[in-house]
Amino acid sequence: MPSPLWARKPIASLDSTGSGLARTLGTRDLVALSIGAVIGAGIFSTLGTAAAGEIAASGEVIRYGAGPALVISFLLLGAVCALAALCYAELAAMIPQAGSAYAYSYASLGELVAWIIGWDLILEYAVGNVAVAIAWGGYFESLVSPWLHIPGWLTHGYFQVQAGAAGTGAHAEVMQALLAEAPRLAGMPLLVNLPAFLIVAAITWLLVLGVRESTRVNNAMVLVKLAVLALFVVVGVQHIDPANYRPFAPNGFTGIHQGAAIAFFAYIGFDAISTAAEETKDPQRTMPRGILLGLAACTLIYVIVGAVATGLVPYLQLKSADPLAHAFEVAGLTRFSWIIALGAVVSMSAVLLVFQYGQPRIFYAMARDGLLPPFAAKLHPKYRTPHVTTILTGAFVALGALVADDAATYDLTNIGTLFAFTLVCVGVLVLRVIEPDRPRPFKVPAVWLVALTGAAACLFVMRGLPAMAWQGFGVWLVIGLALYFSYGARHSRLRRGLPPLASEVSDSHG
Ligand code: ALA
Repeated sequence: MPSPLWARKPIASLDSTGSGLARTLGTRDLVALSIGAVIGAGIFSTLGTAAAGEIAASGEVIRYGAGPALVISFLLLGAVCALAALCYAELAAMIPQAGSAYAYSYASLGELVAWIIGWDLILEYAVGNVAVAIAWGGYFESLVSPWLHIPGWLTHGYFQVQAGAAGTGAHAEVMQALLAEAPRLAGMPLLVNLPAFLIVAAITWLLVLGVRESTRVNNAMVLVKLAVLALFVVVGVQHIDPANYRPFAPNGFTGIHQGAAIAFFAYIGFDAISTAAEETKDPQRTMPRGILLGLAACTLIYVIVGAVATGLVPYLQLKSADPLAHAFEVAGLTRFSWIIALGAVVSMSAVLLVFQYGQPRIFYAMARDGLLPPFAAKLHPKYRTPHVTTILTGAFVALGALVADDAATYDLTNIGTLFAFTLVCVGVLVLRVIEPDRPRPFKVPAVWLVALTGAAACLFVMRGLPAMAWQGFGVWLVIGLALYFSYGARHSRLRRGLPPLASEVSDSHG
């Protein structure tokens, strides 16, 4: 008799019929959700660090940049993510349930691993969104600056200022001045990122109102983001200086590898649409199509944008919080940089929307399984949305965005997501072995090769992240395990022989 820690949820009980969520999404919505989730802070913000690298105040290299070879990093990442995407697609079609990798691992690798993944996905969704909200706030400030001056203490969170002030150079001086001049509250400098807080609050409100309204807004935002990136490419390509491509890979493969580990943030999100499986029409066909088409489109766009950006200016000059707008300024195309900022704000709003949509549905799935308290499994009586978890996620992300340091959150998000992708690749293989006859509407071709290469490739990209990220990830996992053994393991419905909690629970505690 295996230990209950490894208890697997039978796939039949993952059937989504009667889940209570309305099925309204088609392939086009999923591709739009996917582009909406994927193209954001990664291309508009982290591209700079990925190309130029990062050097500490002491002069020590924190990470090497890829230089113009960033396009190689993007291509390699596209390949790595395609392997993981194929695995996601097989599982998403087979187990069309909200909860993404969490639900898949419950069926394939057992409860403990499922919990670890669910906990780990908070890094991808909620912590990732803290970083995106902060980047959004930065671009928003430049967008409105011609008309509106927002004081620095209202656009910079405390930890971001602290981290910035510890460095050297012009940026550090600005942060030190902010720290000295900020109003005080009980002796503490009052430093908050109000725009970042408010955008998360607004998006949370949209999501509580229901998926249909939200996806319509998302579709419109995706059109704007594609139009602005097209403008960047069409205008930028006419100002490329081929000399900027030499040397092509200034830090060799190390630069390409470490650049990829940070640029990975740009790819996060294609998997997020699988959390919408319970709200998708004909998910068996629609999910794999949506995931793969979305990823292919984003990879193509990144390679083109990356090639133009590194051709426009020397790669070291991309080191900026807003590298695309900055590249245009350096190249003398100032009148377009405002439009780029507008595109960035819209793009990142779309990213925020998809992750704020996905996270509550993972919590919701975990609550239905008894691993989180039952109040998290409630649906809104009118809008049929998981409003309790939506509001809780909104509060967590909004408060994080108000005070956190964005740089610290990017790496943590990447390491957590890569780990989840690794487990998904392994999960596909485990299910093929233990349930070979289960109908698979979409099958990964050459599954052993794809899944094993996918898992190894994700681990390899993880290795390109700095030691701090590994330490943060370790601490996060330890906290997660403590919570599982103190709550989840004791309340698991599977372990107690109970079916998942009905979604409209109001008084039952299982
Ligand atoms: N891929 C998403 C972004 O770049 C998370 O913002």
